[in-house]
Amino acid sequence: MNTAEFIPKIRSEKIEEIGFTWQTPSNIALVKYWGKSDPQLPKNASISFTLNNCHTITTIDFSIQESAPCADFDLFFEGKEKEEFKPKIAGFFKRVEVYCPYILDYKMVINSENSFPHSSGIASSASGLSAIAMCLMRLEQALNPRLTEVYIIKKASFLARLGSGSASRSIEGPLVVWGKHPKIAGSSDLFGVQFPYKVHPVFQNYQDAILLVDKGEKQVSSTLGHNLMHKHPFAENRFKQANENLSKMSEILQNGQLEEFIGLVESEALTLHAMMLTSAPYFILMKPNTLEIIHKIWEFRAAENSNICFTLDAGANVHVLYPFSEKEKVNRFIESELANYCQKKQYILDAVGFGAKKG
Ligand code: DP6
Repeated sequence: MNTAEFIPKIRSEKIEEIGFTWQTPSNIALVKYWGKSDPQLPKNASISFTLNNCHTITTIDFSIQESAPCADFDLFFEGKEKEEFKPKIAGFFKRVEVYCPYILDYKMVINSENSFPHSSGIASSASGLSAIAMCLMRLEQALNPRLTEVYIIKKASFLARLGSGSASRSIEGPLVVWGKHPKIAGSSDLFGVQFPYKVHPVFQNYQDAILLVDKGEKQVSSTLGHNLMHKHPFAENRFKQANENLSKMSEILQNGQLEEFIGLVESEALTLHAMMLTSAPYFILMKPNTLEIIHKIWEFRAAENSNICFTLDAGANVHVLYPFSEKEKVNRFIESELANYCQKKQYILDAVGFGAKKG
C-alpha cells in the first residue's frame, strides 16, 4: 500500500501565524463499514450519502514555536475548553505526525462547534475529524502552494480516515466510497473517493430525516464494536456480503431502481445491528422506539405506496431516507407520527450535500 505520496517531500518556509476555518458534514452509510485492521483499514468497502445540515465547523489557529516532541494544542468545543476530547485528538495527531511533520512547529488552538445538538447521539467523529483534516491540509498548502486541489482533497480524506474511518467519507459528496472494490474505479482502503459513475436523477437531493430516539451516550463505542468483529463467527461472510452489496448498490444508484435500493439499504442496517447482537460480548444499541419507528415506516410505505425507507448507524437513532419528490408527504408523516417516538419529539431534516466548505 503506497502511503509515501502523503509524506511531504520538502520542508518549506515557516509561516509565523495563520488560521483556517472549515465546515465538514456528517455522512450516512448505505453499505456499512463494520470491522477494521490496523492502521484504520476497512475490512470491506462502504458507501455513504454525504449530509448537508449536520456538520462541524472548526477553526485552527497556528502560531509558530520551537519544534515540540508531540502536537501541542488547546481544544475548545462550543466555546468551552474540553479536556475529555483531547486524548482522541492527541491520538489522531500522533498518527498523522509522519504525514504532517509541520504540525510540530506550531501551537494549535482548535475551536469547534456542531450544527446538531450536543450529545444528540449523532456521530460527530466523522464531521469533527474531517474538519481538522481540512484545516491541516490548508496549512500544508500555505507552506507549499504548489499542491494541487486534487491532492489536498485526497490527503484530507486519508488523514481523516486515520482519525475515524467514516470521516474519510466526509470530505466530498454526494456519494463517497471508501475501501478498495473491484467495481469502483479509483477506490482505495486509504481514502474515500467520489462515487465515479453517473447517478440516476432520483437520487439527487435525496432526503434524510434523523430521528433522535436516544440522545444518551452509547454503551458501546464504534471502536469497541469494530474490534469485536475480529473474533466474530460471521465476520468473513459479512465482509464478503458487504462487498457484494456495494456492487449491487453501484448498479442501483446508476439505474434508479428504488425498490432494490430500499431492500438493500434496510438489509444493510439490520445486518449491522445483527453483527452487534451476535458479537461476544453481545450488545443492543436499538431501543424499543427504534423498532416502533421501523414498523411505522413499513406501514406507511405499504399504505401510501411510498419509497420511504430507514437506515441505522451505530446507535438507536433512525435515519429516514426518501426521494425529494416525496418530501412534503413524508415530512408531514414524520411530524405527525414518527416525532412521537423521539426524545422530546426532536428530529433533524437533512438532505444529501457536497462535502467540505470553507468557513
Ligand atoms: C456504523 O467511523 O465511527 O457508522 O473508525 O472506529 O472511528 P472508527 O469508527 P466509525 O464507524 C462507523 C460505523 C458505522 C457505519 C459506517 O459509517 O459505515
